[in-house]
Amino acid sequence: MDTPQKQVTMDTIASLAKRRGFVFPSSEIYGGFGSTYDYGPLGVELKRNIKNLWWRDMVQMRDDIVGLDSAILMSPLVWQASGHVAQFTDPMVDCKQCKHRFRADHLENNEDQESKIGVPFGPPKSKMRCPDCGGELTEARQFNMMFKTFVGPVEEDATVTYLRPETAQGIFVNFFNTQQSMRRKLPFGIAQQGKAFRNEITPGNFIFRTREFEQMEMEFFVRPGTDEEWHKQWVDARYQWYLNLGVNPDRLRLREHEKAELAHYAKGTTDIEYNFPWGWGELEGIANRGDFDLRKHSEESNKDLTYFDEETNEHITPYVIEPAVGVDRIMLILMLNAYHEEPDKDETRVVMRFHPEVAPIKVAILPLSKKLAEDARKIHALVRPHFMSQYDDTGSIGKRYRRQDEIGTPLCVTVDFETLNDNAVTIRERDSMEQVRVPVDELVPRVREMLTLGKRIEV
Ligand code: GAP
Repeated sequence: MDTPQKQVTMDTIASLAKRRGFVFPSSEIYGGFGSTYDYGPLGVELKRNIKNLWWRDMVQMRDDIVGLDSAILMSPLVWQASGHVAQFTDPMVDCKQCKHRFRADHLENNEDQESKIGVPFGPPKSKMRCPDCGGELTEARQFNMMFKTFVGPVEEDATVTYLRPETAQGIFVNFFNTQQSMRRKLPFGIAQQGKAFRNEITPGNFIFRTREFEQMEMEFFVRPGTDEEWHKQWVDARYQWYLNLGVNPDRLRLREHEKAELAHYAKGTTDIEYNFPWGWGELEGIANRGDFDLRKHSEESNKDLTYFDEETNEHITPYVIEPAVGVDRIMLILMLNAYHEEPDKDETRVVMRFHPEVAPIKVAILPLSKKLAEDARKIHALVRPHFMSQYDDTGSIGKRYRRQDEIGTPLCVTVDFETLNDNAVTIRERDSMEQVRVPVDELVPRVREMLTLGKRIEV
């Protein structure tokens, strides 16, 4: 990774994502549907790799965390108890002239570029004008971001529920079931991945802020009094996770929330931020939720959600540390981070330097000539049970290398006429473009070694 990385624009990434089958605008043939996106054949692989890696490091490799997959639709009482019905709001303002709508806290942030920490809250300053037309803005009013829906055939107040705005509540309401069925002792965690929905006032910046997205959240239940230490540990572990994935440390930073911007449930929150083309923005939040959620659900449901601590012979309400991140947001930063342009002869080589663990295609099989198709397909059949692979025999070999570089395939295997004599192939490595000749019999272990798959990413 020796080429200095210059900041890439969002337009470049969005256009590559569409052209190469990573991300498509939703409902495009009908003129599009604001703020949702569809993941194409390579996007779905990238996303799945990110989720698998997170699951492996959070659940598979740990003795103290178990998984869960709770329903998206839950009793509306869950959202009342959690505080989302009353407090999951953003301040909204409208322009009296052009009628455009904005999040008041984002406008303030734009105005005060110097204040890097903060997303100041409250009504817009009186001197603020519409950023689009300069018109006068209304007073800020609170807008609840949960999507409402009706359960059953009758649309009335009694049948209202919500699409979940976070996966976390599904974990809290299953705390007792999980702890009992898995005989867990503190500290332990419950991890979940799944869709979440927010009626964002100002979605945007491609897949950074959308109305439908996927979260990966883990609620780590600890003894009160040990929460601050665990919070620190999880902040460090999660930060390290991104470094292990090859994210440029110059584009990452930690930022502690100021009191005024803490979510209604949080005792303290540290964000891992990424330096996006428009500036620093939240990638992942690690919150200390205290005992807010278990206590509230216990009060509202009249069910005992305490934990009997055998060490002290007491019933306690555990505190919770929560690393929470959007898969789509990780995907965006991995695309921004991977994008490189390099001069190559008289053209520019675009190469997506994805970490091999997340690269959508691990290895491409490229016969030098279509006459070698039959032999090359046999070699592909050898490789494909082990790695996500692609076979391509269309166009010049140079063009095919470029296509694979642009989608970030770490290794290309070239089958040439010599292969028929020596039963060997050439492996070309994406970043160095170095080539090595390997006997076909050793191809699978050599590819595995070169991808360093199986090497655990430490958390
Ligand atoms: N349970 C805590 C929680 O949901 P959050 O900071 O609101 O906290 C966690 O969300 C993560 O989910 C964020 O750090 C971000 O990565 C992702 N996220 C939140 N809103 C999003 C949106 N509208 N579009 C894409 N990702 C989003």
